[in-house]
Amino acid sequence: MQGVLFDLDGVITDTAKFHFKAWSRLAKEKLGVTLPASFESDLKGISRIDSMNRILKFAKMENKYSADEVDAMAQYKNELYLKEIGKLTQTDIFPGIENLLDELAVNKVKLSVASASKNAPFILEKLGLREQFDAIADPAKVAHGKPAPDIFLEAAAKIDVDPTKCVGIEDAKAGVEAIKSAGAVAVGVGDSNDLKEADSVVASTEELTYSVLEQAFRK
Ligand code: G1P
Ligand code: MG
Repeated sequence: MQGVLFDLDGVITDTAKFHFKAWSRLAKEKLGVTLPASFESDLKGISRIDSMNRILKFAKMENKYSADEVDAMAQYKNELYLKEIGKLTQTDIFPGIENLLDELAVNKVKLSVASASKNAPFILEKLGLREQFDAIADPAKVAHGKPAPDIFLEAAAKIDVDPTKCVGIEDAKAGVEAIKSAGAVAVGVGDSNDLKEADSVVASTEELTYSVLEQAFRK
């Protein structure tokens, strides 16, 4: 194991709830629909524009708006979201993550971020974790979002490690699929029924240790 590729939302911190809150408000205000609770996990790992399109589809309004109008709605959601995440501090880092990052650094494992979110650098800055990572893959630079492997391939390339020498960590089904397609070892965080394709699943970030990742890698 020479590299670890981290998803951010739902792995490093609990931003999934803020994404859902902002998407729900946008859907209500601009489209007049209420998103069911199940949408929170449906949008995990899905890029901003793909999330917007899924919501339009749910509202049966796929063809109602121009591309510019759709962009403006997605931007409005991001403004709502930014207000929420502006309050993030180091205390919002999920349990076990800081310890894991320290252990990986001691073991000279390179660390890269493979998030679908364009807000990843801002969030890491807020959490005081920017310096702990060797690289952040830019989702604007990849052609296909998760479950395609692109963002994980880019994250591995940025630390100059072959994806097959990497472990990827994900809380989303689409993310686990992306890790596997990239040829890396997938460790899921959450419900093992949802994340069946992962090589190994832990229930919470507290269980993520160097030795757990290393064992998943050797499996
Ligand atoms: C995007 C999406 C959001 C999704 C998240 C996953 O983030 O908006 O629905 O859950 O990625 O990481 P954004 O670039 O808007 O921060
Ligand atoms: Mg996630």
